[in-house]
Amino acid sequence: MKKAFITGVTGQDGSYLAELLLDKGYKVYGLTRRTSTQNFARIDHLMHNENLELISGDLIDQNSLTYPLQKIQPDEVYNLAAQSFVQTSWDQPVLTGEFTAIGVVRILEAVRLACPQAKFYQASSSEMFGKVQSVPQTEETPFYPRSPYGVAKVYGHWITVNYRESYDLFACSGILFNHESPRRGLEFVTRKIANAVARVKLGKQTHVELGNLDSKRDWGYAKDYVEAMWLMLQQDRAEDYVIATGETHSVKEFLMAACAEAGLPDWEAVYKHNSAYDRPAEVDLLIGDATKAKEKLGWEPKVRFDELVRIMVQAELEKESE
Ligand code: NAP
Ligand code: GDD
Repeated sequence: MKKAFITGVTGQDGSYLAELLLDKGYKVYGLTRRTSTQNFARIDHLMHNENLELISGDLIDQNSLTYPLQKIQPDEVYNLAAQSFVQTSWDQPVLTGEFTAIGVVRILEAVRLACPQAKFYQASSSEMFGKVQSVPQTEETPFYPRSPYGVAKVYGHWITVNYRESYDLFACSGILFNHESPRRGLEFVTRKIANAVARVKLGKQTHVELGNLDSKRDWGYAKDYVEAMWLMLQQDRAEDYVIATGETHSVKEFLMAACAEAGLPDWEAVYKHNSAYDRPAEVDLLIGDATKAKEKLGWEPKVRFDELVRIMVQAELEKESE
């Protein structure tokens, strides 16, 4: 039985990845932080599975990473844990650096010392491209991060490359573009919009307050993207890959499509601008070229923009009707 260790198992991607690996017959160890109230909502449905074991630890506590890895001797380690909300990274830049940047070298050190044979995945981000230096963005596009989060991810990316080159670890970095789902945190724009339009439709709220409607993102479906993470670790050589749909849409387009899906004819009546959601520095346009992933991993996104909007809005209509 293969063993996988996932940091960030309670998050959107961690929950889908745990599901995927359990379905494939893995024993899955998930790192969770102690919180005063449990936040296992995304993995509740997996808690009865005897092949899922939760381990208490934190990316800022070195021994809580090294000891479990020493004991478990996993075949694969997926580092998905991070302070992942870009807006918060301006309010808490130091904490974001601790978790999202230095956290990566902590887990890499743990792997190097405790289980150097394990294959390692780092959750890198298209946010590293920031003020984009070429369109579309590929594995060769230089980074120009625009937020403390983006800067922290650049560190995480390069330290992963460096540990691969310095210690011959099998360490891959997946440069994933935005990916969404009904399990997305409510603060991210797609889930915020999907939830709001459902509530407006059901008469539970009148409108949604948003920031910049003009920025464009390459939005995919989280379930498709965790498959790419797994595929990267099934290869003979550790490499870095862009994972994206190759399509880009503005926040306004997402809002319009979500209103249409919810049966709200006038999207402008649903929206109010609130400058609190504008960012000190914006990433205007992201669009990825995942040709390498297609050629080497045989990976392609199954869910496209319209289908993603449909999945998210229908999930919110169902939840909000309960
Ligand atoms: P998410 O839903 O915000 O989940 C983040 C996870 O990290 C949660 O399980 C959280 O635990 C955990 N975590 C945070 N700080 C931690 C710490 N100090 N120690 C241990 N665990 C900690 O994020 P996601 O959307 O699943 O994304 C997964 C990863 O991919 C992140 O690294 C993110 O930056 C990266 N990424 C995401 C996207 C995207 O579009 N979703 C794109 C590119 C890259 P709690 O539940 O206790 O808070
Ligand atoms: N969150 C949010 N809330 N964003 C808004 C809002 C709002 O009310 N109004 C407009 N936006 C715009 C933001 O300014 C940004 O341009 C865009 O919507 C997307 O914002 P988010 O959904 O918060 O995602 P993100 O692109 O900043 O970051 C996500 O994707 C990265 C990959 O590119 C996160 O998942 C990161 O962790 C990930 O690395």
